[in-house]
Amino acid sequence: MSVSTAIRPTETWQPPAPLAAHEFEIVPFAEGTGAEVLGLDLSRELGSADFSRIHQAHLDHHVLVFRDQRITPQQHIDFSRRFGRLMIHVLHQFHLPGHPEILVVSNVVEDGRPVGLGDAGRYWHSDISYKAIPSLGSLLHAQELPAEGGDTLFANMHLAYDTLPAALLAAVHGRRAVHSYLAKYGELQQRGNWRPNLSPEQLAQVREVVHPVVRTHPETGRRALFVSEGFTTRIEGLPEDESRQVLDELFAHSVRAAHVYRHQWRAHDLVFWDNRSLIHLATGCPAQLRRTLYRTTIEGDAPF
Ligand code: OGA
Ligand code: MN
Repeated sequence: MSVSTAIRPTETWQPPAPLAAHEFEIVPFAEGTGAEVLGLDLSRELGSADFSRIHQAHLDHHVLVFRDQRITPQQHIDFSRRFGRLMIHVLHQFHLPGHPEILVVSNVVEDGRPVGLGDAGRYWHSDISYKAIPSLGSLLHAQELPAEGGDTLFANMHLAYDTLPAALLAAVHGRRAVHSYLAKYGELQQRGNWRPNLSPEQLAQVREVVHPVVRTHPETGRRALFVSEGFTTRIEGLPEDESRQVLDELFAHSVRAAHVYRHQWRAHDLVFWDNRSLIHLATGCPAQLRRTLYRTTIEGDAPF
């Protein structure tokens, strides 16, 4: 044994160090919703202190933008799983091959076949609000971005609730609303090629559900509006015309500019938003420009 590798008598065994804390910054956006996470590499496992910091920032800011993430689909899945179970999207043809936990969001057509869901987010919505157990949050990772357009808007539904005019607040007090995956399905089928007719099995997976119009965030206790033009079809217990009018007013109020953060995608962004606190919208890009992102969706709990 050489002298250099010999254990010197003064050295004692140490348990393996916990994962070293990463140095990273969380910088809130000026808009008041969302924050940017700088200097964190999600291809390395996060220790529990770093994870807690991210978790808290997600609750505080509702959407986190992790810049410059060179991560594989498996690393994207592994990081997402730390927040809960992952949901498998009903449109199986748009799963990433080998990774059903990833939904491919893409306008790219290869050999006449769309590789992903090209019209995801065309109407304001909270992901999977059409299920009894909707989503906690989603993580969208940029793969290929267009030179122009393709922004994603996020509206803060806590602010929307906090600023709701008294008459609207009274109109929805204690009320529940119907959410349906099929709310805009026919319109989407007419506008593009991404929406097949659903099989009886798929239809059985997306039967309409009812959720409170105002929900309480299960982790922060803050109230938020929980309706959207994409999936909410009517308010229970109101005549149809009144329900339509109240919903339209709620939709318009929710997405007022003061409540909205506009995300302009940069290469390798990973964006993690809270579906319990926000609704979001794809603004779209010119059809000839390629845009592809990968999404994981974390299961939440029943809104109350
Ligand atoms: C989604 C979604 C918006 C976008 O993937 O859930 O709504 O801008 N995407 O791609
Ligand atoms: Mn979405």
